[in-house]
Amino acid sequence: MKILVLGQGAREHAIIKSLIGTGTPAEKIVAAPGNAGIANDVRTVETLNPNSPEQVTEFAKERAIDLVIIGPEAPLVAGVSDALRAAGIAVFGPSQRAAALEGSKSFAKEVMAAAGVPTGMARECSTIEEVESAMAAFGAPYVIKADGLASGKGVIVTSDRQAALDHARNFIDMGILVEEFLDGQEVSLFFLSDGKTVLPLTPAQDFKRAFDDDAGPNTGGMGAYSPLPWLPEGFVEEVQETVALPTVHELARLGAEFVGLLYCGLILTARGIRVIEFNARFGDPETQVVLRRLVTPLAGLLHKAATGQLANATEPEFTKDVAITVVLASEGYPTSSAPNRAITGLTAAEQDEHISIAHAATRVEGDDLLATGGRVLSVVSLAKSFRKARKHAYEAIEQIYLAGSHYRKDIAKAVADAEEND
Ligand code: AMP
Ligand code: GLY
Repeated sequence: MKILVLGQGAREHAIIKSLIGTGTPAEKIVAAPGNAGIANDVRTVETLNPNSPEQVTEFAKERAIDLVIIGPEAPLVAGVSDALRAAGIAVFGPSQRAAALEGSKSFAKEVMAAAGVPTGMARECSTIEEVESAMAAFGAPYVIKADGLASGKGVIVTSDRQAALDHARNFIDMGILVEEFLDGQEVSLFFLSDGKTVLPLTPAQDFKRAFDDDAGPNTGGMGAYSPLPWLPEGFVEEVQETVALPTVHELARLGAEFVGLLYCGLILTARGIRVIEFNARFGDPETQVVLRRLVTPLAGLLHKAATGQLANATEPEFTKDVAITVVLASEGYPTSSAPNRAITGLTAAEQDEHISIAHAATRVEGDDLLATGGRVLSVVSLAKSFRKARKHAYEAIEQIYLAGSHYRKDIAKAVADAEEND
């Protein structure tokens, strides 16, 4: 099977590593545009624009690609999967219409309401007066969401009324959703969907805030771990029955079959499971830990989803070993961007057999590897316990040098501490 992976982040690098690790020969994979780390593992085509439906379809036809895997949301929103499907090429990634589940928070709320999926109460607002009155109705802390794709910057959770209103003013043109505050542990759970049937992957937790102890602004994600030993029994089955399946069925009823990865962002509140968001693609950095634990051949699973055959697939299997990932971010992330800077020490860090490194923002220039800003890479560690996984991950990241960079020191710390107290 010849596979094209679209995207250029650590998520795509993790997908490619998992394809290879579960049996796909590296020569069968091509990535576009990829990054410096991806180019070490498979062939990359830097000139192909992953957001161009025409270019991607043309390329896939020319190279006789059997399966296209779409990593980021931008190609989905641009209609790349629609064009590929129209050309008869199997694609893992939902149509433009189905991807609105991620792109439009108000559409997601409508789908959830129709499907009876548990989520926070919310009000759609198009003026600041409406925002003020919704804030007064729900009370603090305030949850203000821009109703569109805002690169992870569209949501603010704050008790500072002025900051909430300032945020709403910034995004009012997109439309604003004011939501009730949901208190509890966050869980990311991914489902493969072929439009009719869903299969769960394994739960993970993302660390969204920039700094230790959940301080600082929201980011794309600074680290993650999997599995979540504290989850109640039957959690995955409950999410499948009450969230994933009804959502996929409602989308099918609307004529927007969801073929791809349904990312359920959940909060486990005292009153039960609530959806805080859907994404129409693999999460980053959760993918790095989820797929690091996958044992079942990934290519077969994604191909079955892409071709409507999930009902014949066996449930994906995961190792009992645990995985954590720590993200190395460049200076100033997420509030400002740093200039390109040399990054060293990766070869030494990767000597440890527990460690693999997924590149995000890297580029080769002459003899140097450059970090090009934002989230630069994910150090992924697989071990028998969280304590060991943390030890290996942090020993590895300490060997990597990038001027001004930062990372969180508390990824999976609470679960590792709980292990020691067992
Ligand atoms: P979203 O982009 O919708 O996932 O929101 C980003 C982050 O804001 C989430 O991961 C949560 O940490 C937080 N968040 C979103 N909605 C809520 C809510 N209703 N209550 C509490 N926290 C929330
Ligand atoms: N880690 C959150 C996301 O991928 O949206």
